[in-house]
Amino acid sequence: MHSSKSLELTLAILKPHIVKSPFALKNIHNIIIQNEFKVVRTRKSLITHEEASKFYAEHINKFFYNRLLTFMCSGPSLIHILARHNAINTWRQLMGPTKVYVAQLSAPNTIRGTFGLSDTRNATHGSDSQDSAEREIAIFFKDFDIKKWYADEEMYFNTGQVKFDFVSFVHNIAKNTDIYK
Ligand code: CDP
Ligand code: MG
Repeated sequence: MHSSKSLELTLAILKPHIVKSPFALKNIHNIIIQNEFKVVRTRKSLITHEEASKFYAEHINKFFYNRLLTFMCSGPSLIHILARHNAINTWRQLMGPTKVYVAQLSAPNTIRGTFGLSDTRNATHGSDSQDSAEREIAIFFKDFDIKKWYADEEMYFNTGQVKFDFVSFVHNIAKNTDIYK
């Protein structure tokens, strides 16, 4: 789809129990920045039942589907579009295994190993493929045009011509300026 030198986009969600916990939230945001992700969009939102059912449609017949939707709609989440080389796998590696007890035992230093509370309240979401990332971004950022972003903005993010805004937790394009990290 895009050349291997292009940045890859992924959708990250910091689930409701993380947004309620300033310590966990700060730690996970630090992990994002320390691992050189660029934050393309940030949205804090109480996910609607309609959005959650679209988002988790593949799990509709699973035993955990109802508890998952109830949890995801229980309070605001932070939803980020992240850009990086190999963003999808890198973010999933940082998150660790889906199941929290597996994460705690086999990957205790991952995000889920550290901040997960249960198999449902496992701290974060990350897209599992480029197709999933596109589908998921379209659900939560309806006005975000991926093709247009690659055509008009990717090069600024890829060459570091962006400036990080800590307050809104987003990188903004900073054209014709000195080096911004
Ligand atoms: O999030 P991930 O892609 O790692 O896992 P998934 O298999 O796509 O499951 C989606 C979400 O369902 C998980 O992140 C958990 O929040 C939830 N889940 C659950 O509540 N109970 C399980 N046994 C497995 C997953
Ligand atoms: Mg999944």
